[in-house]
Amino acid sequence: MNTPENGRARHPILWTLGVLVAVAVAFAGYLVFAPGPTAFAQGKRVALADYHDKDPTGVPEELKSASLIERGEYLTRAADCAACHTVKGGEPFAGGRAFVLPFGTMYSTNITPDVDTGIGAYTDADFLNAVHKGVGRGNVRLYPAMPYASYTYMSDADALAIKAYLFTLKPLHAPAPQNTLAFPFNQRSLMGIWSAMFNPDKRYEPNVERDAVWNRGAYLAEAMGHCGECHTPRNLAFALNNRQKFAGAVQAGWRAYNITPDRSSGVGAWSDADMSHYLSTGHADGRGTASGPMGEAVDESLSHLKASDLAAMVTYLRTVPSVATGDLPEPRAAPAAATFAQSVGSHAEPSGRAVYEGACAGCHGWTGISPGIASAALTGTRAVNDATATNVAQVIIHGGERQAQAGPSNMPAFGSTYSDSEIASVANYVTARFGTKAADLTADQVAKLRTLD
Ligand code: HEC
Ligand code: HEC
Ligand code: HEC
Repeated sequence: MNTPENGRARHPILWTLGVLVAVAVAFAGYLVFAPGPTAFAQGKRVALADYHDKDPTGVPEELKSASLIERGEYLTRAADCAACHTVKGGEPFAGGRAFVLPFGTMYSTNITPDVDTGIGAYTDADFLNAVHKGVGRGNVRLYPAMPYASYTYMSDADALAIKAYLFTLKPLHAPAPQNTLAFPFNQRSLMGIWSAMFNPDKRYEPNVERDAVWNRGAYLAEAMGHCGECHTPRNLAFALNNRQKFAGAVQAGWRAYNITPDRSSGVGAWSDADMSHYLSTGHADGRGTASGPMGEAVDESLSHLKASDLAAMVTYLRTVPSVATGDLPEPRAAPAAATFAQSVGSHAEPSGRAVYEGACAGCHGWTGISPGIASAALTGTRAVNDATATNVAQVIIHGGERQAQAGPSNMPAFGSTYSDSEIASVANYVTARFGTKAADLTADQVAKLRTLD
C-alpha cells in the first residue's frame, strides 16, 4: 500500500541503493579510465607518422643498416620475449613456463615456428593481433600474463621484425601443459571484456614536448621492456595502476622494488651511472645485485642493449613521479662492525648467526662488504633494507640464478640445504645485521615463498 509511511520507509533503501550503484559506477570508471603509462608527462602527443624528431621506435643508430633479422633479434631482446616463453634451463622460446596465480596455474606457449605446437602458422596479421590485442590465432583470447597491454604500444614494424627473427629459429615440437585455472578464470572469452577495459590498443604516440631521448626511453621502458608489468602495482582487475606507476609490486614471490625517483624508498639517490650499470650488468656498487626475475631481465634483455638505449631509459625513469613506499626506508650505508660477536639487538637470532657463519660469511664478510666479490656486497642493498626480507629469502632459496654470469663465486641456492625455519632465521639475521630494520620472517612465510617462484 502506498501510504506516506511506506514511501518514507522505502526512501532510505532506494537512496542507499542509488549511492551504491553510483559508487560502483564511479569505481568502475576509476579503474577503466585510469591513466596510461606515460600520461604523467602530460604534454601534446602525436601519431608516430606526425612526429618529426628522431624516431623513438626501431633499433639504435649502430644497427640502422643491419638486416631485418638482426634488427628483429635486438628488438626481441629489448622486449624480452624469451623471459616468459622459456622454462628455466629449457629451450629458448619453447614455452611451458608456469605462472602460479591465486586461482590456478597457467603456462606460456611455444613461440618457435613449429606449425603444430608453436606459431609456425601465424600470419603477420595474426602476430600483430596477439602482440597488440591479446588475440591469438583462431580468435583465441589470451590472458594478460602475456603483457599485450604493454606491447600494444610497439610499432607494427618492430613487432614484425620480431616475428621475422622468431621465424628463423629452429621449430621445436613443444605443446604447452594444460592450464589449471578455476572457473570463471578458465573462460578465455572474459579476457575480451578485460581487454576492452584495460588494453588501450594503440601504438606509441611521441610526446612533442619532450625530447627525442626521453621518447626513446619511454618507448623502450613501456612498449618493449615492460618494466611496469613487474614494478607497477595492479588494481583489483589485475590491470596496472599507473597512479602508482613504478612504485613497486610483488611478482612471482619476489618484490620488484620501487623504481620511482623517491630518494629513500625509490632509486632517486642512485646516480645515472649506478642506474645504467645496474641495468647493463645487474650490479651497482653500494646499491645491490639483481637476482631472480630482475637478474633474468638483465641477462636476457637489458645487458644486450646499446649504451645509448640504456641511457635513454634512465633519462625517462628519472621523470616518473616520485612515490614513497612506507615500509622501505633509506638503505643503511654504513657497513656492520667487523667483529663476529657484535650484537645486532634483540633480533640477533643465534641460529641465524650460526648459519651465516657457516655458509655465508666466507663470501659476504662480517661487515657486509665482501672480502673478494664486488657483487656480493650486502651493505646498501635494497634487499637487506626491506624488512619483509622477501628477496633475501628468495635469493637464499634459489641462489642468484645469474645464468649469463654463472661462476664459482655466484650466490649458491640453499633451498634444499636449509629448512624453512633456518632460512627464516638467517634472513632475519642478515636484515638485522646489515639493514635498517630486522625482519621477522617465519618458517611458514618461507614455505609459502617456495611455492611462488
Ligand atoms: C610476462 C610474460 C610474457 C612475455 C614477456 C611475453 N609473453 Fe607471449 N605469452 C605469455 C603467456 C603466459 C602466453 C599464453 C597466454 C594464454 O594462454 O592466454 C603468451 C602467448 C603468446 C602468444 C600466443 C601463442 C599461441 O599459442 O597462440 C604469442 C604469439 C606470444 N605470446 C608472443 C610473444 C612475443 C612476440 C613476446 C615478446 C615481444 C612475448 N610473447 C613476450 C607470456 C609472455
Ligand atoms: C619480470 C619482472 C621484472 C621486470 C620486467 C623488470 N624488473 Fe626490475 N626488478 C624486478 C625485481 C624482482 C627486482 C628486485 C631484484 C633483487 O632484489 O635482486 C627488480 C629490481 C630493479 C631495480 C633495483 C631496485 C633497487 O632498489 O634495488 C631497478 C633499478 C630495476 N629493477 C629497473 C627495471 C627497469 C628499468 C625495468 C624495465 C626495463 C625492469 N626493472 C623490469 C623485477 C622486474
Ligand atoms: C660463493 C659465495 C656466496 C655464498 C656462500 C653466499 N653468497 Fe649470497 N651472494 C653472493 C653473490 C655473488 C651475490 C650476488 C648475486 C650473484 O651474483 O649471484 C649474492 C647475493 C646475496 C644477497 C642479495 C644481495 C643483493 O644485492 O640484493 C643476499 C641477501 C645474500 N646473498 C645472502 C646470503 C646468505 C644469507 C648466504 C648464506 C646462507 C649467502 N648469501 C651465501 C655470493 C655468495
